[in-house]
Amino acid sequence: MISQKEYAHRRLKLAQSMSSESICLIHSANQKTRSNDTEYPYRQNSNFYYVTGFKEDESCLMIVKKKNKFKTILFVLKKDVKKELWTGQRLGEVEAKKLFSVNEVYTIDTLEEKFKEFSTRKQVLYYDFKLTYLKFKALKRISKGMHTHKNIALNIENMRLVKSTAEIKLIQKAIKITQKAHHKAMSCTKVDKNEYELQAKIENIFKAKGAYSDAYTSIVACGNAANTLHYIENNKPLEDGELILIDAGCEYEYYASDITRTIPVNGKFTKPQKELYQMILDVQVKIISMIAPGVMRSALQKKAEELLCDGLLLLGILKGKKKKLLKKDAHKKYYPHGIGHWMGIDVHDEAPYKDTKGKEIPLMKGMVLTIEPGIYCNTNDNSIPKKYRGIGIRIEDDILVTKNGHKNLSSSIVKDIEDIEKLSLL
Ligand code: GLY
Ligand code: MN
Ligand code: MN
Repeated sequence: MISQKEYAHRRLKLAQSMSSESICLIHSANQKTRSNDTEYPYRQNSNFYYVTGFKEDESCLMIVKKKNKFKTILFVLKKDVKKELWTGQRLGEVEAKKLFSVNEVYTIDTLEEKFKEFSTRKQVLYYDFKLTYLKFKALKRISKGMHTHKNIALNIENMRLVKSTAEIKLIQKAIKITQKAHHKAMSCTKVDKNEYELQAKIENIFKAKGAYSDAYTSIVACGNAANTLHYIENNKPLEDGELILIDAGCEYEYYASDITRTIPVNGKFTKPQKELYQMILDVQVKIISMIAPGVMRSALQKKAEELLCDGLLLLGILKGKKKKLLKKDAHKKYYPHGIGHWMGIDVHDEAPYKDTKGKEIPLMKGMVLTIEPGIYCNTNDNSIPKKYRGIGIRIEDDILVTKNGHKNLSSSIVKDIEDIEKLSLL
């Protein structure tokens, strides 16, 4: 749980990052239509959630700053017994004021009026450039006199780079549930089942253990399907002798986990599968071992590319001189993606990789990132030794940067060949 004290501290830091004589609006996410009159399950906007912890739609946070003083105002939906009968209970302004430590709470229908009142003589309007709140156009018209419009999302995303102890606990909880799901996938019988049956087993554990949802659409890809990076059809039979790439992680109380394991359908790796798998695992372990404050993410990327190139040469998938191959990006045919990304409220956490001057941000204590090398050998690629064709492997863990190095938050999800084979015998 993130305490009200922590949310208040975030708002304080955010207000400190604003210029004096300014006003800021951060809107909740809109409902999204799925089809006709049905909606996708509602998910709060991550930046709004980060500074409020408020989960309802049609809400807004306003920060009014004058010199170095500021006040925070939350706008929420009015209580409406008739509507609540259909869509569930709303907190309303009275309860919200009790539970959320903001200075003032009003109903959302007063936003325009309050904005007029509080924005007089303000020089800067901050809002999230990506969020389009239905009534925002009217507010923008009112704010025409202001000299500058600035994107508040950048200030919040900067703060999201380093995670607090409470945030790390929620990520760990998400990973714990995801661990159970991956171990279930490893230990259950898979031959002659379908990818979607395995997906159902995984997501059943997410829900049964209290995770609201998956953090992204699960990938359950058997054999050559693993060579489509964003394969989400998950509708093919699980073939004896093939590998299954499972990239699945739950979201727990708005915090993500992002885990990939690649496991044999029948519980036993073949020799070529072992060779490729062990090579990628060795690279992953080596890259994780490099993680520490001050290290650049680009250095991890470069090293991963070099090591994977070495491995591809050794296995005869690439031929030629390493230096030349790296220079012409020959390895990228088999490893076309990055080594990892920030993770937090979003699976690809919206926090910057470069500072405002365009300089890369080094790793710092409290950051969380994924490390996910992979090699993808398409069935139709005749340049690859036949024994490796149709194999796609990725191994992904979630890593916390600590004071002196790192902690692999998902180290308890097995990934050694022997351990995976042992689990599948259970
Ligand atoms: N599951 C998305 C990713 O690995 O980046
Ligand atoms: Mn990832
Ligand atoms: Mn992933």
